[in-house]
Amino acid sequence: MKYYLDNLVKSNKKYTIDGKVATYIPELAVANSEHLGICISDGKEMVCSGDYNVKFTIQSVSKSVVLILALMDQGEEVVFEKVGKEPSGDPFNSIIRLETYKKQKPYNPMINAGAIAIASLIKGETVEVRVSRIVNFIRAIAHNTEIEVNNAVYQSEKESGHRNRSIAHFLKGIGNVEGNPDEVLEVYFNQCAIEVDCNDLANIAMVLALDGKSHITGETLFPARYAKIAKSYMMTCGMYDGSGEFAIRVGIPAKSGVGGGILAVVPNRYGIGVFGPALNEKGNSIAGLKMLEELSEKYDFNIF
Ligand code: DON
Repeated sequence: MKYYLDNLVKSNKKYTIDGKVATYIPELAVANSEHLGICISDGKEMVCSGDYNVKFTIQSVSKSVVLILALMDQGEEVVFEKVGKEPSGDPFNSIIRLETYKKQKPYNPMINAGAIAIASLIKGETVEVRVSRIVNFIRAIAHNTEIEVNNAVYQSEKESGHRNRSIAHFLKGIGNVEGNPDEVLEVYFNQCAIEVDCNDLANIAMVLALDGKSHITGETLFPARYAKIAKSYMMTCGMYDGSGEFAIRVGIPAKSGVGGGILAVVPNRYGIGVFGPALNEKGNSIAGLKMLEELSEKYDFNIF
């Protein structure tokens, strides 16, 4: 596997020049667009290659994980009251389209609007408590106690997050967001700025692959039902308006982030963490997608 992964990274590196690092958050623009790395866990062994130990911010990959914490905090009924269950077909930062069946709410928790609604459901008296509960949850499922928020990226997004600010206040206006929308944004900006590497993402993905059970300690870290909800959303909406194409080409649940990360789950088999900050026009790692496509063909990942 190691030899195969080394070649996979080497042969896909050329695609990084077709993508661009995210610049709408100034601090993300400093990323090296040539970086490309991957880790794959089979539950027993972790195999990694390329720039797998370079740290990057989790960004939207956090949406799948914070959703699970919100489900644990509030249960399904409350969560589904706030977000729908359908793909939107829109880019991640779309402001205006709301599902209007029964109640106005964001289409799903994988786009920004839905993730902001979900961030408002995280329990904790203060913003600090809510953020540290999210960080601790990510540390537990990544099996890495050293995970922290990257303060420079957090500040940078806070200063430039006008679109997200408008989404949060709009959602508050229609009664979708709970509590103070500026506090909810603090939670959301912090969760996006949590720093991880491919190893961390592969561990998180492996726990999802095992429906919430740790492959390292055997402990149940979250209920299987919530793992299945998160994976369903990842399958249908995790790559935004590129989700349908990803389902056809790769055929597994995955979640991308503009930091260049992809969390990919091969149910019951593998947890995969990919990093490649050069993105395509939909905000997904361009060379990362190519690597997953090739891997899926070789190891028959497709769940369909
Ligand atoms: O909301 C934002 O703009 C970012 N902090 C997260 C967006 C993101 O990662 C979209 N991913 N492809």
